[in-house]
Amino acid sequence: MKLKYFSHSAFQITTDAGENILIDPFLDQNPTSPEKSINVEADFILLTHGHGDHIGDTLAIAERCGSLCICENELASYLLSKGLNAHTMHIGGGHNFPFGHIKLTQALHTSVTPDQECHGAATGIIITIGDRVIYHMGDTGLFSDLKLIGEMQDIDYLLAPIGDNFTMGISDAVAACQFVQPKTVIPMHYNTFPVIEADPKKFKQKVEAKGITCRVMDFGEEIEL
Ligand code: NI
Ligand code: MN
Repeated sequence: MKLKYFSHSAFQITTDAGENILIDPFLDQNPTSPEKSINVEADFILLTHGHGDHIGDTLAIAERCGSLCICENELASYLLSKGLNAHTMHIGGGHNFPFGHIKLTQALHTSVTPDQECHGAATGIIITIGDRVIYHMGDTGLFSDLKLIGEMQDIDYLLAPIGDNFTMGISDAVAACQFVQPKTVIPMHYNTFPVIEADPKKFKQKVEAKGITCRVMDFGEEIEL
């Protein structure tokens, strides 16, 4: 299984079976993404919420690739209304898909699509593929139920926002890691715009001082999980 980081909150998972799974594919309007949406393939698109920097190029990619979009009920219903394939879920619920299992979690944030047509809830996403568990936190502030999530599930990779202003900053993200206790944390949602400038090396130093391994991914880098 491979994990590619486009920058911001946008990732691609490629499973050993060859399935392509995009998460929050904000590419064409993303000044830090080395990839444009026309060059990516997606069997599945996972969305944490409807903000433009997360729904991104979902409509164009899903129309071209026939992707199944998986997300919270209101956002999925919105995508269905646009003629896309979508699976509706909600916070606390899990479901098995051909590639693995998805469960949505709470995120302390809001959700509205760029055209203001859809107001729903923001979420995090716990992705289980084989014996690997990836928790994409979406956009969120710090909340203490992260401790419960970490106690109930062994998280291998935590994708955690560190850019501050709209989400957790570095200090709160370190506290989130102490709650979740992932094997590895990968920082995200930073340096896309001036208002979310943050130093991932500073985050790495602080979180590793708490005994949690941090992997800072370059924009466009792909790693084997
Ligand atoms: Ni947001
Ligand atoms: Mn965001």
